[in-house]
Amino acid sequence: MSENLGSVSILVLHGPNLNLLGKREPGIYGLTNLEEINRLLEQEGEVLQAKITALQSNHEGILVDAIQNAPEQHQGILINAAAYTHTSVAIRDAISAVKLPTVEVHLSNIYRREEFRHHSFIAPVAIGQISGFGADSYLLGLQALVRHLRAAV
Ligand code: DQA
Repeated sequence: MSENLGSVSILVLHGPNLNLLGKREPGIYGLTNLEEINRLLEQEGEVLQAKITALQSNHEGILVDAIQNAPEQHQGILINAAAYTHTSVAIRDAISAVKLPTVEVHLSNIYRREEFRHHSFIAPVAIGQISGFGADSYLLGLQALVRHLRAAV
């Protein structure tokens, strides 16, 4: 299989309440705040030659708009849809419509938690899911997405 070693652009989407990371239920979500997660992603992006554009929103429609516009600038999406993971047909349909390779991530292991978190509307339209490794879920997800994109070309 041929490999594309050129630079890729990745849209990182953070869903509702993730702006509170660091102070929100640290026993579940850890002490790393969103700014630090974005900084870690940018650092990893430099290593992987991937440009990172990050957006957090508490609003479903803003996330849908960002997904719809993503193909103009980005080759892949890394998303923690947070609570919308378990509720949003709109976000799932947007990912399905744009057909950009998408990796779903979660800080906590959603399968060890309440039953309502066990179902993801995103998972069937994602290339894969990483759940349970805290902030590392994002870094592992970014690595997996970039490797997928490079292998796919
Ligand atoms: C989460 C898990 C979701 O169930 C929850 O609603 C979140 C965060 C996670 O990263 O572990 O807000 O996506």
